[in-house]
Amino acid sequence: MNEKRAWWKESVVYQIYPRSFSDSNGDGIGDLNGITEHLPYLKELGIDVIWLSPIYKSPNDDNGYDISDYREIMDEFGTMDDFDRMLARSHELGLKIVMDLVVNHTSDEHPWFIESRKSKDNKYRDYYIWKDGKGDNPPNNWQSLFSGPAWEYDETTGQYYLHCFTKKQADLNWENEKVRNAVYDMMTWWCDKGIDGFRMDVISMLSKDPDYPDGEVTDGIYGDLMPYVCNGPHVHEYIQEMNRRVLSKYDIMTVGEAAGVTIDEAKKYANSEGSELGMVFHFEHVNTDATTTPILGKWGYDHPDLKKLRPILNKWQLELEGKAWGSLYWDNHDQPRAVSRFGNDSEKYRVVSAKMLGTLLHMMKGTPYVYQGEELGMTNMVFTSPDDCKDVEEINAYRQYVTEHKMISSEVMLKCFSAVARDNARTPMQWNADKNAGFSTGTPWIAVNPNYVTINAEAAMADKDSVFYYYQKLIRLRHENDIIVYGQFRPLLEDSGEIYAYERTLDGKVLTVACNWTENTVSCDLFDPLAGEELISNYSEHIKGMLQPYEARVVLS
Ligand code: NOJ
Repeated sequence: MNEKRAWWKESVVYQIYPRSFSDSNGDGIGDLNGITEHLPYLKELGIDVIWLSPIYKSPNDDNGYDISDYREIMDEFGTMDDFDRMLARSHELGLKIVMDLVVNHTSDEHPWFIESRKSKDNKYRDYYIWKDGKGDNPPNNWQSLFSGPAWEYDETTGQYYLHCFTKKQADLNWENEKVRNAVYDMMTWWCDKGIDGFRMDVISMLSKDPDYPDGEVTDGIYGDLMPYVCNGPHVHEYIQEMNRRVLSKYDIMTVGEAAGVTIDEAKKYANSEGSELGMVFHFEHVNTDATTTPILGKWGYDHPDLKKLRPILNKWQLELEGKAWGSLYWDNHDQPRAVSRFGNDSEKYRVVSAKMLGTLLHMMKGTPYVYQGEELGMTNMVFTSPDDCKDVEEINAYRQYVTEHKMISSEVMLKCFSAVARDNARTPMQWNADKNAGFSTGTPWIAVNPNYVTINAEAAMADKDSVFYYYQKLIRLRHENDIIVYGQFRPLLEDSGEIYAYERTLDGKVLTVACNWTENTVSCDLFDPLAGEELISNYSEHIKGMLQPYEARVVLS
């Protein structure tokens, strides 16, 4: 084996979106004590690491991704004592805790920003990115990633500040050494508390193009900022500095959310020498929904095609080999539910296709991430009114494209939301068939998916064929077989439009994986004759030379 071992390469991570996980005090909002209560459930699933979406003090314009105090807990989630108890209990159970680190921007209610906007000579002025406008217009045509302009005019000083996300999420100026030092101090403070790592929010966006040029106009309204804010000129310098000053001093896991990352950039961020981060999230495979709507960007709603997906999955496996470590995910709090998007959420195929997706992902090389409810095969919502939407991204997009510019109908926008909106992932965790799915005794902050009556954790744990137990087995297999963690990847059946297959090899052993991506029975001769031991499959009986609808098979020889 030529790969360097690391605990975070051998781990499976479970992401919790605290607002939607479990509400212990009946206010309709999930909280830290709710998480502590359910740690035994996660232990039973077998995961190693919990990644918590932000739990810091925040006015919640973007559900905690707008932080107003990095060293305090959000009131609705509990107290620092609750956090300490949760951390201690997790560690007792052998579970690690990874925090979300959101340092591309702060809330406009952060004391740094409150000071910064007071005057041009305030000592915090240069903590953020302030520019003069062009006449009556903003400094350039950039659209914020959550619709509308990326610049907000501030009357007090007559300048604009940059916000790549909402106007309540002001971008920090990483060129300012004081900003970087303050961030490193804060990270050190959390590491000293005993946390086990960081998931770094849009870490590829820390360094902006110093010329701030106009972006290409794709939807007829604003310009695209992505080429000028992702992978900028100093981003690797900053991350290497962060590594020297903080990360290298602790045995922690790091994963960078890397919007706009290419393979070549990923090889730098997650290089095997360890001078930057442990791994990054890329977005190529979750950007494969065909865009048949008249607006561009993320709002396409056609089922992703295996022909588009295959080269992306293969490329990331093959090209990182030996050079950088990868991450594996279908779902997170920004994506619709995997079984609805990539699988088939009909009554007939939901369970089997959820298991197929789990197999495809968990047998690949990289660290797998499970998003809360994915292990139950939780599905998308159906949005029938804009009032159903709680996410600022959806609310703003509706306002821009439907209300203000009348580019598409409300009906089409809601169809987009039901397919790809982030709120699909944020409906409450479905614990049981009781009121509000057992999530809360109060009124949940976002509607519960009505299918909780049948799709819930209690039902899954009472059914030995459930998605839950299948995921439990996938996770156990990874812990028991080095080949699943470290084996070299080689694609198989590359011309197939129906089957995604590959093999992993290590120390003379071969692991063969084949997944039928369709609801048809298709021919596949990879397992005939069967040479070896079947480690897992979502069907108990096989048909010779065939894969049944959404069938997945894994054989070790
Ligand atoms: C990426 C996060 O995953 C997303 O939820 C958030 O809205 C943006 N970054 C802004 O912080």
